[in-house]
Amino acid sequence: MGLVIADRLVPFGTTIFAEMTALAQEHGAINLAQGFPDFEGPPEIVEAAVRALRSGDNQYARSRGHPELVRAIAESYGRNYGMEYDPMEEVVVFSGATEGITASLLGLLNPGDEVILFEPFYDSYPPGLALSGAVPRFLTLRAPDFAFDMDALQALVNRRTRMIVLNTPMNPTGKVFTRQELEVIAALCLEYDLLALTDEVYEHLVFDGARHIPLACLPGMRERTLTLSSAGKTYSFTGWKIGWGTGPKALVDGAQAAHQFLTYSVPTPLQRAVAYALENFTTDYIARYQAEYTARRDFLVSVLRDVGFRLAAPQGTYFVLADFRDIFDGDDRAFAYWLTKEHRVAAIPPSAFYARDVEEGRRLARFAFCKRMETLEAAAERFRRIAPCGDTR
Ligand SMILES: Cc1ncc(COP(=O)(O)O)c(C=O)c1O
Repeated sequence: MGLVIADRLVPFGTTIFAEMTALAQEHGAINLAQGFPDFEGPPEIVEAAVRALRSGDNQYARSRGHPELVRAIAESYGRNYGMEYDPMEEVVVFSGATEGITASLLGLLNPGDEVILFEPFYDSYPPGLALSGAVPRFLTLRAPDFAFDMDALQALVNRRTRMIVLNTPMNPTGKVFTRQELEVIAALCLEYDLLALTDEVYEHLVFDGARHIPLACLPGMRERTLTLSSAGKTYSFTGWKIGWGTGPKALVDGAQAAHQFLTYSVPTPLQRAVAYALENFTTDYIARYQAEYTARRDFLVSVLRDVGFRLAAPQGTYFVLADFRDIFDGDDRAFAYWLTKEHRVAAIPPSAFYARDVEEGRRLARFAFCKRMETLEAAAERFRRIAPCGDTR
């Protein structure tokens, strides 16, 4: 049979994560490509899931989220940011932030609406927009500091603009948007009556005193912002796929309108375990988590610099974008394939995360450091065999 994929999804092919993970497996490479931890989250949270499984609570959960979980989510926003959400009306639980993104785009946008995206973007935003019939407008952030130009942002707005999607801390750049930057974005949303969809799955992964500020905390923004997050990142259970959205009832209702037909609800026992995590793994856990990730980041950044990559240390997330021009002559795909096959370390070629200025990504590689120190040390051994300009000693 010929190609039967729907036209609107054909441009997106297979995700680069699946491609690079398969290549890493084929070559026995250390997988610094896909962002999943190679260690377990806290065993007490696994035990909470086992207890929930054994308690006989194994049928469909409430579509918008198990009451225990939506309450725990609402409380966590109060504790972390002083934000108040009604657990039953202003919270919705998704199958990971990925479903949250697509459900929100499908539920809140009409065909022809325009949406502003920062690039490099998380790769599910453009296909989510394609499914909803909305049209992306891209603002390119450039290495090494990924600052943005207010005038360029404003120039993207017209009467069809409906929404801005913001990812902070930002994958793959590691950028944490500052209060001043958020104020600029908020002012634009207020002036042009835009909705904001914020992807804050790395909300707790910030370094060197950087502070994550939810856009919804800025004056006037709570009423127009749907904030997404996920237990996958904070508790290292990416395979559980428990994510959530918080926002005013009107926006939650919009996302829910799609969510009810996409997944209806997500696994009941895992929701209860994540409720346990949100209630019991708070300040001390987050401080430990940040300290461990700071050590991993510092190690990988110094290894990459020693090898000859150019990079700025990320202020957030567990990714680093590194410029390989001084050690390899070719584009990002050629580099990622070469590194995986010849040096058995896998990375992501980030040009897949650009649409407007793809050239920006062609000299960069994305490495994930959500890995045990031993894994990073083993990768460091392999990196040290690389000599500048692709001369493999
Ligand atoms: C920016 C961003 N958003 C969303 C997700 C997906 O989150 P989840 O695993 O909860 O679907 C990821 C995962 O890598 C991500 O990096």
